[in-house]
This record gives sequence, structure tokens and C-alpha cells, in this order.
Amino acid sequence: MKRLKIKEVLAGGQVGQQVLVKGWVRTKRGSKNVNFIALNDGSTINNLQIVADVEKFGEALLRDINTSASIGVNGELVESQGSGQAVELVASEITVYGKADPEKYPIQPKKHSLEFLRENAHLRFRTATFSAVFRIRHAMAFAIHKYFNDKGFYYLHTPIVTASDAEGAGQMFRVSTLPPVNPPTTEDGEIDYAQDFFGRPTNLTVSGQLEGELGATALGEVYTFGPTFRAENSNTTRHLAEFWMIEPEMAFYELKDNMDLAEEFLKYLIKYALDNCMDDLKFLSNRLQQEEKNKPQDQRSMELIEKLQFVLENDFIRCTYTEAIDILRNSKPFKKGKFQFPVEWGIDLQSEHERYLVEKHFKKPVILIDYPKDIKAFYMKQNEDGKTVAAMDVLFPQIGEIIGGSERESDYDKLVKRMEEMDVPADEMWWYLDTRRYGTVPHAGFGLGFERFILFATGMGNIRDVIAFPRTPKNAEF
Ligand code: 4AD
Ligand code: MG
Repeated sequence: MKRLKIKEVLAGGQVGQQVLVKGWVRTKRGSKNVNFIALNDGSTINNLQIVADVEKFGEALLRDINTSASIGVNGELVESQGSGQAVELVASEITVYGKADPEKYPIQPKKHSLEFLRENAHLRFRTATFSAVFRIRHAMAFAIHKYFNDKGFYYLHTPIVTASDAEGAGQMFRVSTLPPVNPPTTEDGEIDYAQDFFGRPTNLTVSGQLEGELGATALGEVYTFGPTFRAENSNTTRHLAEFWMIEPEMAFYELKDNMDLAEEFLKYLIKYALDNCMDDLKFLSNRLQQEEKNKPQDQRSMELIEKLQFVLENDFIRCTYTEAIDILRNSKPFKKGKFQFPVEWGIDLQSEHERYLVEKHFKKPVILIDYPKDIKAFYMKQNEDGKTVAAMDVLFPQIGEIIGGSERESDYDKLVKRMEEMDVPADEMWWYLDTRRYGTVPHAGFGLGFERFILFATGMGNIRDVIAFPRTPKNAEF
């Protein structure tokens, strides 16, 4: 008999139908005569209730059916007696594929802390919470490709190993095959990278943007979607050393077009989640509400689905950095000395400032533009004022910066001058500069931090809980 996924059975199974399902046991409870097994196969947050007659299967077999054991069940669908589903499955045949010793299996059917589950990340997929998060993560990855494909963007695979530091922030992981002990040296005692695998120092990419620009200035509109690596020692709930980034890059786009695209794109993803992931969202929403029950009213976050709808239905605020600094300096927390970090024109906004703007002042997502040039990367378009660049950061509630982007400097001379000022090695980046030498165009792009977006979409609070195997300082288990 053809195996059916539990999702199909729950959605379309008919009373009287014979079906075969396979999955992992979530819970088992029962009486002397009958056992009820909640079976999950990952296809949906919902379990299929299996009814197993004790006399028919014998206690020995049923004893092996514990939480996380893997089984296959053949049987007939009957009308459900009250499991919240339309149908349940009366077993006629049960195959135990693998037992899970309840004395040893770490994830028992009770509430575990997210910290504990992080230490057991190899098994946390088997919990309802994490299966929901990873189904939504998948749906969002799919929606990203669908969105760009439908708009005529090309998916460009930019390199993971690179010799350039796109962001110029020096937060790179070195890639080398030189021996770590006594590496070859040059005459002046420096490590001799000429003898390294690539014949030069290389690192894991911090962004695919520079190569994305090469693609965009011929293919028109491209996007990358790949892993990026940053050796920044930030142990926060919003930073990973390995994260996934989506970077669209568009020829003939100016800053306004870039903002419009970012807003449309984020709303598309949110709508896709609401249209396609409702069971999982409802589960995560309940989970969050349980968790927040004990918090005072004013510290509770907006209900998850309501929050997604809210962002979908409202225009993002667009505001300059200079205006934002004014707002912050006139704010209550600033006047009462409540901000931990200083606020003055020229500073890099901290997450406390970003969250104030979004959550307290505007109460909507915000696109901040025209940042001081000295806190942004060399490639951003220089504004007429000589002080700011055509940068844009999209700030979201609870997250802060979710997107960073800009219009790019398309003028060769201005770009080279800025590279010199910022000690970016222009000679090594001759290939990047060629786009400005030959048929340069106004162009723009941005980077969406995939995990930051998934945090928002799932309501999870820690970025380590929305990537399967997080890489953070001092942590590369699994
Ligand atoms: O603002 P960033 O550094 O921008 C760039 O890398 C540009 N090259 C993008 C572009 O214009 N093509 O990073 C973009 C986004 C941030 O807004 C944030 O969401 C995410 O990437 N991000 C991180 N996410 C998780 N962990 C980290 N350590 C992150 N650093 C950045
Ligand atoms: Mg940024």
C-alpha cells in the first residue's frame, strides 16, 4: 500500500479508507484495552491519532512504542472520537522501525527549555516548536525564490571563498591550507601566502554583493541567497557567525526603487507565510502567549498573527538618519538618560535606538536612509551634501535592523577616491571598478538577514532557534 503523509490523511482522509502512515511517536497513553498513539511524520504540526487494541497487538509490542520510536501503521480511518481531528486511524498492522529507550531519550513529552533543546539541537526537530520553525523557514526560502523568479530576477551563485572584504569591516574567517604551526614565511618574516592554496590570503565571504553587482550590470536584476560568515564577537540574540543572506542587486534602480522593492518583498513573504503556514503560525502564537502569560501587560509583544497582519497592512515609515537622531534626542529615554549608548549625529545606531524608533515612536517598520558616510561601506552612493550616503536600513519591531542596503556609487572617480580614503585596496579590486569603467549605471541593492526575518515571522526570541545548527562564538557543535 502506498504510504500517505499525515498531512494528506488529516486534510482529505475518508472514513473507511485503508491507509499506511509512517512517523515518530509523540506520545502514547492508554487504558488496559486500548492505546492511543499520537504520530507525527513532520508533514504537519498536527498528529494523527492511532488507536491500537492491546489484546490484538500484545503488551510486548506496545511497550516498544514510546516517545520518538519510529513506526509504520496500516489501518482503517474512522471518525475521530474527540482528538480535535476529523479522523483517526484504527491500527491493523504496526511495524516498529526503531525503539527509543524512554530511560535515555533526552526529549521527553514535557516542556523543555529552549536552552536545553539548543544543547540537543540534533533532536530538537522532533519537538512541535522546532518542526514548526523549520517548516516556516523552508516555506520562506521557497517564497523568496518564487518572488524573485516571478519578477524576472536571476539567482546568482556568488562565491563562498573570496579574497575581498565586501563590507570592509575586517570580520572575516580565514581560509587557508597552510600548516598552522610553522607556516612558510617570506624574507621579512611574514606568512607567505604565495604558497597558500589560492596563492593569496582568502576568507569566507561576508556578503555576495560585490559579485552581485557584476551580475546585475549585465543581467539586469539578480539576487543571491547563500551562507555568509562574520567573525564578529557578538554574543547576542540577533547575531550568528554563519547566517544566510538574500541580496538582490538591480541595475537602473535608485534609492527609492530599492526601498519600494524591500517593502514589497518583505510583505510578499509575510503574506506567503499567512497564506501557507497558518497551522504552524497558530501553534507558535499559542506557545508565545503561554510564555508571556506571566509578563506585565505592557511588556507583552503583539500576538504573532496580528503582528504579521499589521506589518502587511501598513506602509513602512521612511525617514532620514538625521531626522531619526532628532527624534531620539527629543525622546523620553534620552532625556532621562535611559539609553545605554550615546545619541549624536554621526554615531552608529544601536539596537536600543532602532527599537525605540520602531516600537515606541513610529510603531511601524521604518526605513532609515541617508546615513553619515563614515559609518557605512565604501560602495554607497555619496549624496550631494558631502556628508551622507544613500544607505537604507529597514528596522523591524523586536529585531531592529533586518535589511541593510544602498544605492551604489556608480561614478568611477568618486568611488576610487572613497576607496582610498577608507583604505580599501582599489588595485586588488580592479574587476569591481571595471563595472564603473565600462557602461556604468545607477544601481542599488540590499541584504536581508534570513534568520532575522525568520525570527520575526515565527516570533522566536533567539536567532539560535531559527537556524538548524547555529554557529556562534565558542560554539560549533553538531
Ligand atoms: O547590513 P549588512 O552588513 O549589509 C551587507 O552585507 C550588504 N552587502 C547588503 C547589500 O547591500 N547587498 O547585512 C545585511 C543584513 C543585516 O541587515 C542583518 O539582517 C543581517 O544581514 N546580518 C546578520 N544576521 C545574523 N547575524 C549576523 N552576524 C548578521 N550580520 C548582518
Ligand atoms: Mg547593516
